[in-house]
Amino acid sequence: MLNVAVNSRGSPHVIVVGNEKGGSGKTTIAMHIAVALMKSGQRLATIDLDSRQRTLTHYIENRRAWARRCHVDLELPTHLAIARAEGSAVSENEAAEFADFDQAVSAIERHHDFVVIDTPPHDSYLMRLAHSVTDTLVTPLNDSFLDLDVLAKIDPMTSTVTGVSHYAELVREMRRHRRSVDGDPTDWVVVRNRVSPFGSPIEAVFCNGLQELALALGFRAATGLCERPVYRDLFPRGLTALDVCDRAPAGDLDPSHSVARREIQALLDVLKLPLDDRGRRRAAARAEWLAARTHPLDTGDVVLTDA
Ligand SMILES: Nc1ncnc2c1ncn2[C@@H]1O[C@H](COP(=O)(O)OP(=O)(O)O)[C@@H](O)[C@H]1O
Ligand SMILES: [Mg+2]
Repeated sequence: MLNVAVNSRGSPHVIVVGNEKGGSGKTTIAMHIAVALMKSGQRLATIDLDSRQRTLTHYIENRRAWARRCHVDLELPTHLAIARAEGSAVSENEAAEFADFDQAVSAIERHHDFVVIDTPPHDSYLMRLAHSVTDTLVTPLNDSFLDLDVLAKIDPMTSTVTGVSHYAELVREMRRHRRSVDGDPTDWVVVRNRVSPFGSPIEAVFCNGLQELALALGFRAATGLCERPVYRDLFPRGLTALDVCDRAPAGDLDPSHSVARREIQALLDVLKLPLDDRGRRRAAARAEWLAARTHPLDTGDVVLTDA
């Protein structure tokens, strides 16, 4: 039974980042969406369901450590990690995982606007549970036909869809379940990741295939993030492309930095999330406060000059 009541009105908006393919960029995108939402003043919780890798958990731990070490003010989510139950009976494991998931959701649902859930790259009960309660499903997809194969088989000549793959079937089933529980649809957005900034000769064929798939499977396709060092180099400090301009020494800035920020903003726009206006006001106040702290006091009126 998959019945967690997270999506009744007034509950946080749930964003699951999922794909059965490891290395597609789930954790990177989950962290960037999380930081972008916190920077826009939203009250955020994150849940790591990838109990083997725990990469999102490590990312957030690194961020906390970096903030403490450098005395910088970095946004941090309420973070929870849920481990897979390792007992011998499947039904007992599922009951234990369901209870842990339910408890995590109950702990955060009243005081947060959004929950971002990072998932493991394999089919599991917890992964299905997350997919069945999400409002927005974000599936990163590397720009490769091999990755497209995780969603469906495509005819090489006509780009038509010839068969639906396991993950797409799983999503279809979980969406149906979600709709039957509270009638709300899950918005599924497939986000291209590690796109070559210079394009490639087969890009048009790839995009055609993706568009065909979008119609067949009912997702929206987004050109998400290009391949950029800024998305991978900041993990040890727990920073994202959205942070560095705030505080890092000028030498640390990647040339593609501001482009990366625009990419993340464009991704947020595509996701059409229900951003809370109070949150936006909180973000504006925070930005003003930070600007006041980072800029020296304007002493033009009182400092005497020789002139
Ligand atoms: N847009 C990107 N540009 C450069 N490197 C990326 C990008 N997206 C992800 N990566 C890198 O790809 C690898 C896999 O990403 P990750 O987020 O861990 O994927 P997943 O969580 O799906 O396994 C990591 O080394 C990450 O730093
Ligand atoms: Mg991951």
